Amino acid sequence: MFRKYWLIWALALWVSCAPYAGQAKKQIVFNTMKCSLSGKVFANIECRLETRKALSLILTTDELKTADNVVGVFELRLSIYGQTKTITMKKIRLDLCQLRAQRDKKSLMRLFYKGLRTANHNLPDKCPFLRNTTYFMRKVEIDASELPPYLPEYNITFGGRIYANNVLSSELFITGGFCEAEQDCTGQREL
Ligand SMILES: *[C@@H]1O[C@H](CO)[C@@H](O)[C@H](O)[C@H]1NC(C)=O
Ligand SMILES: *[C@@H]1O[C@H](CO)[C@@H](O)[C@H](O)[C@H]1NC(C)=O
Repeated sequence: MFRKYWLIWALALWVSCAPYAGQAKKQIVFNTMKCSLSGKVFANIECRLETRKALSLILTTDELKTADNVVGVFELRLSIYGQTKTITMKKIRLDLCQLRAQRDKKSLMRLFYKGLRTANHNLPDKCPFLRNTTYFMRKVEIDASELPPYLPEYNITFGGRIYANNVLSSELFITGGFCEAEQDCTGQREL
């Protein structure tokens, strides 16, 4: 099922070039962010919201071992305000070893890669991540201006797992919303 929704999103993104006069601008904001460490690939992980629109993630590799094949696999759950139905997109892969190579992909992924690339980060161009090193991604923002303003307002939950050396190394959980720029995106608005 998720493939179908995926396609709808991908299409929605690319028919969105026309100006939509009178449509309110939308934004993506974050409400909460949590992260935890699993296994022994990373020695430490820290994450926080810098602002409602920007988040940071800081990873420190093990003192003795490099980290190769660093990949995020995540699930995005969207719930439209005022509806009980949710749309889930599973197994979305973000390759943290190939940030540069992803430059021209035209899809929802582009938003995520763009958010990571334009953040203040020190990720390597190529894996492995060096041992005993702290890698940071600061002020990651997801720019909603490329999304068509006629999309409905959503609550968003983002569950991510980071794998490295082919084992689960950390988990992330982020909540937020896609809403009109003058709203607070907590989903609490009276409809
Ligand atoms: C959106 O999330 C907030 C809390 O994060 C919740 O109170 C609200 O009911 C949610 N709205 C919808 C439509 O799911
Ligand atoms: C790891 O880095 C810390 C601080 O940069 C340093 O003190 C320590 O000796 C390093 N450990 C190894 C095994 O290189």
